[in-house]
Formats: sequence, C-alpha cells, structure tokens
Amino acid sequence: MRGKRSRCSFSRLEVILIVCLVLMIALTVVLLMGYANPDQVGGGLLSRLYSRAFIVADAEGSTRVVFVSVDIGMVSQRVRLEVLKQLQSKYGELYRQDNVILSGTHTHSGPGGYFQYTLFWITSKGLIRPALSSIVNGIVKSIDIAHENMKRGRIFINRGMVENSQINRSPFSYLENPESERKRYSSNTDKEMVLLKMVDEDGYELGLISWFAVHPVSMNNSNHLVNSDNVGYASYLFEQEKNKGTLPGEVGVPGGMVKQGWDREGGSFVAAFASSNLGDVSPNTRGPFCVNTGESCDNPQSSCPVGGAAMCMAKGPGNDMFESTRIIGQNIYLKAKELYEKASQEVTGPLSSAHQWVNMSDVSVQLNATHTVKTCKPALGHSFAAGTIDGVGAFNFTQGSVEGDPFWDQIRDQLLGEPSNETKACHKPKPILFSTGEMTWPHPWHPDIVDVQIAAIGSLAILAVPGEFTTMSGRRLREAVKSEFDSHGTRGMNVVIAGLCNVYTHYITTYEEYQVQRYEAASTIYGPHTLSAYIQLYRGLAKAIALNATQELPRGPEPPLFNVTSVTLLPSLGAESAPAAKTFGDVLEEVRQEYREREVAEVTFVGANPRNSAENATEHNFLTVERYSNISSSWHAVLNDASWDTRFYWSKGSRGQSNVTIEWHIPAGTEPGVYRLRYFGHYKKRVGLFRVITVPFEGSSSAFQITAP
Ligand SMILES: *[C@@H]1O[C@H](CO)[C@@H](O)[C@H](O)[C@H]1NC(C)=O
Ligand SMILES: *[C@@H]1O[C@H](CO)[C@@H](O)[C@H](O)[C@H]1NC(C)=O
Ligand SMILES: *[C@@H]1O[C@H](CO)[C@@H](O)[C@H](O)[C@H]1NC(C)=O
Ligand SMILES: *[C@@H]1O[C@H](CO)[C@@H](O)[C@H](O)[C@H]1NC(C)=O
Ligand SMILES: *[C@@H]1O[C@H](CO)[C@@H](O)[C@H](O)[C@H]1NC(C)=O
Ligand SMILES: *[C@@H]1O[C@H](CO)[C@@H](O)[C@H](O)[C@H]1NC(C)=O
Ligand SMILES: *[C@@H]1O[C@H](CO)[C@@H](O)[C@H](O)[C@H]1NC(C)=O
Ligand SMILES: *[C@@H]1O[C@H](CO)[C@@H](O)[C@H](O)[C@H]1NC(C)=O
Ligand SMILES: *[C@@H]1O[C@H](CO)[C@@H](O)[C@H](O)[C@H]1NC(C)=O
Ligand SMILES: *[C@@H]1O[C@H](CO)[C@@H](O)[C@H](O)[C@H]1NC(C)=O
Repeated sequence: MRGKRSRCSFSRLEVILIVCLVLMIALTVVLLMGYANPDQVGGGLLSRLYSRAFIVADAEGSTRVVFVSVDIGMVSQRVRLEVLKQLQSKYGELYRQDNVILSGTHTHSGPGGYFQYTLFWITSKGLIRPALSSIVNGIVKSIDIAHENMKRGRIFINRGMVENSQINRSPFSYLENPESERKRYSSNTDKEMVLLKMVDEDGYELGLISWFAVHPVSMNNSNHLVNSDNVGYASYLFEQEKNKGTLPGEVGVPGGMVKQGWDREGGSFVAAFASSNLGDVSPNTRGPFCVNTGESCDNPQSSCPVGGAAMCMAKGPGNDMFESTRIIGQNIYLKAKELYEKASQEVTGPLSSAHQWVNMSDVSVQLNATHTVKTCKPALGHSFAAGTIDGVGAFNFTQGSVEGDPFWDQIRDQLLGEPSNETKACHKPKPILFSTGEMTWPHPWHPDIVDVQIAAIGSLAILAVPGEFTTMSGRRLREAVKSEFDSHGTRGMNVVIAGLCNVYTHYITTYEEYQVQRYEAASTIYGPHTLSAYIQLYRGLAKAIALNATQELPRGPEPPLFNVTSVTLLPSLGAESAPAAKTFGDVLEEVRQEYREREVAEVTFVGANPRNSAENATEHNFLTVERYSNISSSWHAVLNDASWDTRFYWSKGSRGQSNVTIEWHIPAGTEPGVYRLRYFGHYKKRVGLFRVITVPFEGSSSAFQITAP
C-alpha cells in the first residue's frame, strides 16, 4: 500500500501498447523546425518520422495513461488541441487532457508549420495544414493502434549512465548555481537514462520507453533532409534488432502502406527514446570552435575574436554530421539495450494522472513567509537572437547580453512596438528583444495558457513539462516533486521529466542561470521566477496524486484555438512537367553496374514534388532497395525510405521540373547479389484549363551487382 493513493488493490499493471507510425516527410517548401533558420527548407528524406504511443491501463481498463513520443521538434498547443478533439470524438471520455501526454523528441530536422502562436508561424512560413494534419493524424493513428493491441503485461524499470554523449553548452550559466548545490553532482549534465521495459503476460517483448537528456542536434542547421536525429537513430537500431526480417515501420509493400494487423512475428516492437531536461545539453561533444580560425570559443559569450558569435559552433564526435548522429545514437541505443536486458525491478501500484491549465503570465509564487514573486508576460531577450553553439543566430547578437543594443531596440520599437515598463521591470535583468506577451496581431505571439501534467504509473512519476528545462532546473523540479510525494507518505517515487510536452514555451532556467542571460535564459519567457512557478505547480499536482484528490484540482482556463486559416504562406502545388522526350520516373543518371560495400549507389530520376505523395496520406514510401532472388525469380524489398542507409533528395528546377536522387550508402556486410533502386512518386497534371489532378508513377534503376569484398 502506498499512502492514500487510489487503486492500491492490484500488484500488476496491464500494459499495453504499441506502435509505430508514420508521420510525413519530405516537406519541400516547409521549413525544418528548431533552428529558426529560414534557409533550412526540407529537401528530402534521410529517415522517417514516427509517433510511438503507449497505453497503460489498470486491470479493469478504466484508469489509463497514454504516453506518446513523437519525432518532431516539440508538441504545439495546436497539435495537442486537435489530437484531444479527435480522441474525444472517437473514444469519449477515455482519453483526455489529464491522461494523455504528448512529448516531442526535439529533432531539429522535422517539419515546421504546425503552430498557432504568431512567433512560431512567422518562423515556419505559416500554419501549414498538410504538416499539421499529418502530425495530428499520425499521433491519433498511433494511439488507435496501441488501443487495439492492448495486452495484459508487466513493466520493469531500470536506470544507468550514458557516457560520452553530451556536453553542457552553457557551462558559464551552470556555474552561477550555488556551489553547495553543484557539489552534489558529478557532472554539469544529467547522464542518467531511465528506462521502462514492457512485456506481456507470457514474457513476450512489447517495447520500451526511455528518457535521456540530450538535444537531437547532431544534424546541424545546414541539413535539408527530414530525419529523427540521434535519438531517432537509437529507436531505429533497437526496433530493427527486435523486429528482424521486417522493414522499418512495416512499410513493406513498395509504394504502399503500413501492413495492418500486428502479430507476434512481425514488427511490433516499439522503442521510444523520449526527451527530458535537455535545455543546456548538446550532443556535439568536441565542443565549440571558431569555424574561421579553429580556436576554442568556450567563453561566456560563445564569441570568436574574428566574426563574433556567428563563427562559434560545436561539432563532433564524428567527422561529419551523419557520423556524429550515428555515434551518439549508437551510444544511447547500447546503454538502453543493456538496461533493457537487465531490467528486473517491476513497476507495480496504482495509475493516476493530474493536469491543469495555468495562465503562466500570472502565477504568484510564495518564496518564503515574507516574499511573494510573480511570473511575467512572455518576452524573449536579446541573447535569444544569438542562438547557440548548436545553431548560431544572425547579425551581431551574442549570448550573455544583459545590456541590450540601442540599434536593435530602435528597430524593434518602430516595427513591433516598445515593451511596457512593467514587462521590462518584470523580466530584469533580461533586456527584452521581443515583448511577445504584448504582441497580439494578428493573434497572440506566445501562449499564456500552459499545460502542467503528471502521470503516475505505480512508483514512476512522469512530469510532462511544456518546454526545455536546463540540467539544474530539471534536478530541482524532480527533487521538489519527490519530496512532495514523500511528505504525503508516497515514498521512493522515481521521478522523470518528459520534455517538450503539450505546448511549447521555449526554455526554463534556474533563477541564478537567468541572471547571466545566455540563450536559454533569454528564452525563459515567463521571467526569472518561471522555474519557481513550475515547482509550485508540479508540487500541487504531486500532492493531488498522493492524496487521491486529482478530481478536485481546478481545471484552469482552457487554451484558445485561433482561426489562422488566412495566413498560410505556403504556395499551393501547380502542374509539373518532365524534360522533352522524358516522363516522370525516367532515369536521368543511371547507377553503375557494380558496387562494393561502403560505396554509394546513386540514381537520378525525373521527379515530382514529394508533397504530392503526402497530401492525403500519413504514409507513403518513396523508395525501395530491392534484391533479386534466383530462387523465386523475383525482386524483394530489403530497405525502404525509413532506413538510415538510404537518402532521398529532391531538387527543384524551373518550369515545373524537378529531379529526385536516391542514394544507398551500402553498409559493410551487405550480402552480395543483384540489386536495384526504385522510386515511387506522384505528379500534378493539368487537365483542361482549370483542373489539376495527382497521378502516381514509379521509376527503377537498372540492376546492379554488389560484389563480395
Ligand atoms: C480515490 O477517490 C475516488 C473518488 O475520487 C474514490 O472512488 C476512491 O475510492 C478513492 N481511492 C482511495 C484509495 O481512497
Ligand atoms: C554541418 O556539418 C557539416 C558536415 O557534415 C559541415 O560541413 C558544416 O560546416 C556544418 N555546418 C554547420 C553550420 O555547423
Ligand atoms: C493571463 O494573465 C495575464 C496577466 O494577468 C492577463 O493579462 C491575460 O489576459 C491572461 N490570459 C488569458 C488568456 O486569460
Ligand atoms: C525570503 O526570500 C527572499 C528572496 O529570496 C530573501 O531575500 C529573504 O531573506 C527570505 N526571507 C526569509 C525569512 O528567509
Ligand atoms: C550591431 O550592428 C549594428 C549595425 O551594424 C551596430 O549599429 C551596433 O552597434 C552593433 N552592436 C554591437 C553590440 O556590436
Ligand atoms: C517608462 O519609464 C520611463 C523612465 O522611467 C518613462 O520615461 C516612460 O514614460 C515610461 N513609459 C511608460 C509607457 O510609462
Ligand atoms: C476563419 O478565417 C477565414 C478567413 O479570414 C474566414 O473565411 C472563416 O470564416 C473564419 N472561420 C471562423 C470559424 O471564424
Ligand atoms: C543468380 O543469378 C545470377 C545472374 O543470373 C548469377 O550470376 C548467380 O550465380 C546466381 N546465383 C545463384 C545462387 O544461383
Ligand atoms: C536534373 O538532372 C539533369 C541530368 O543530370 C541535370 O542536367 C539537371 O540540371 C538536373 N535538374 C535539377 C533541377 O537538379
Ligand atoms: C488526394 O486527394 C485528392 C482529392 O480527392 C485527389 O485528387 C488526389 O489525387 C489525391 N492524392 C493522392 C496522392 O492520392
């Protein structure tokens, strides 16, 4: 028995889960989300993006918790509201705002365009319906599949350290935290991975969720290929290992859809690598160097002697971003594999969830008997525009700016309006660049209403947080929540932070880190007491769970849904054409006749905009690598577009023409034999004067030989 929590009568949870599923892809004119870099438009596909859903229910199935890890930069309020609406129309009151957690992995190589707040849609060229719909539908579909595949089962928990995979990218902020506090930790990042292993009653493996704090920015901001970055690669390795003989995501049918009907033999293992308090954690472990001179720029401003902050970038551990992604992903995967195999501590106890909507512009925090402080209306500081060593900003902004810059302030005042004195004072010492909380045209620029949420699965409490907590912020929050549980007799809780959940509010630093105004602090939008406010709020949720009083929590003000249909800036798709005497899918540049392992097989086709193929479906496979079987005298797909060994490039030309190039980076150990590369697309064709229709087509390279090494 534990404290006064609900449902103490059973010892085993019924686990359930599953699923893969396919968001979309290859968004061509759509900006990738995360670096806010206007040049970073999607130009193809390296790996697929998935939504991985897990449902845990009690023995009667009446109490449930849904955890979804999605390969996107962050979950937006718009996505969340639309997902909840669809769930309500399908399942009534079963899946609700309090028991559904949506968490982004924080890949910076996913689509943008799925936000309703003005700041985000400006930076991703509008609210892009196809991107938003594919994310919402993909998430709902993953929950549907999980729902239909629930099995009685057991959950085990394990934890361990992942080495050599992170650095703190704002170590000078971290050092602002009290020495007595820092001394309690051996590192300026959290190295611990927490992992849940799920098996059914017969011990058959169902899947895992792990949480580990690292930015998925191994792929840098010069990348144009959609992919799920280092943590996505870890998922891929784990799922490939457990789902032997199936193609990733089961997109096995050329040009086709995910196979329906999961069975024990095929492809149903799901491995989610979810985000945590990664705010100040970079995977680029060689650290920051000036790209022009090669000197270190590991200084409080992350600035280079020549060229300033724009030259200071971190990289490594690999020699290029693809290699770095694989090294970090592999490290994470190997630790997860070890923890998974050894997991023996069973998670038992009641299930519950607590949720509130809170106006984060307006939270009073009781610091002690004499002092009460307040959060602020949202605002971004000057150092926000400096970016980080993982993706530098523009102009001459630097991190650690507490002075502001009269030049930019004047431009801001003329274009967007001056911040009020009240907001300036509230955010001190942050010099305000954008007073987003005071900008409401055509819709508010930043959210006021934010979700706070905890789900408890037996002795595990998952804190769903609406942004990027820094290392020390995360530690303070976990510790406060754990002691809150303790103080109500619910002892020994494992507390994990699930990052980038439900609504995006940028960063959350400690009060001390906030004072030096590096990027993370300038992006702590509700002011210096943001963390204290969250600690107070999450303690409230923990208390409600511990006292079985979650029903009594006030719901708080419901977030608004804006009508942003009028501001989509993405051009619609027009008719396309092929070069003279060619048609769509024809080969322009052929493969060689022969390759060896570690070489790159490459073919270029007359192509069409990949958005055509994604417009109605969340799933479309753009390519296969096929091997010829002498025995059956037929071709078999051995890889698809979800594979990390294949790359799909789209290059747009003039007069509605474009090319598609498919690369296969042939790995060591590839079976010798006869192979070919195939392409599956759709093009837009004009019929009559005003109608444009979408026509499917295919292309194939010639057969080529892979010879023994
Ligand atoms: C928890 O509260 C619910 C009503 O909100 C009640 O039905 C249930 O019996 C309570 N459980 C415990 C263990 O007190
Ligand atoms: C990104 O990585 C590539 C190597 O893969 C490198 O050539 C490029 O300079 C890097 N760009 C940035 C902005 O770090
Ligand atoms: C949130 O609180 C602020 C400050 O009191 C207020 O100005 C704003 O209108 C509130 N937002 C909403 C959506 O209620
Ligand atoms: C209460 O907190 C404030 C601000 O941190 C501090 O200045 C003050 O000394 C504290 N008072 C007590 C009684 O601890
Ligand atoms: C930033 O650039 C502008 C325009 O070049 C200049 O006026 C301003 O002084 C610069 N600010 C700093 C801090 O260098
Ligand atoms: C803000 O404060 C400054 C300096 O105290 C003052 O000159 C100015 O009038 C104030 N602005 C507003 C809008 O109150
Ligand atoms: C949304 O905006 C569009 C364009 O301004 C308008 O046509 C439509 O009626 C609006 N819808 C709602 C529900 O207000
Ligand atoms: C399969 O066919 C290829 C091409 O005809 C031939 O070179 C190869 O030896 C055959 N392999 C087997 C195992 O029969
Ligand atoms: C397409 O490929 C052809 C042949 O290699 C080349 O001449 C043409 O410039 C390419 N077009 C685009 C848009 O990349
Ligand atoms: C998508 O749906 C529209 C309207 O039904 C249709 O014209 C188009 O061909 C479809 N596209 C694909 C790729 O199936």
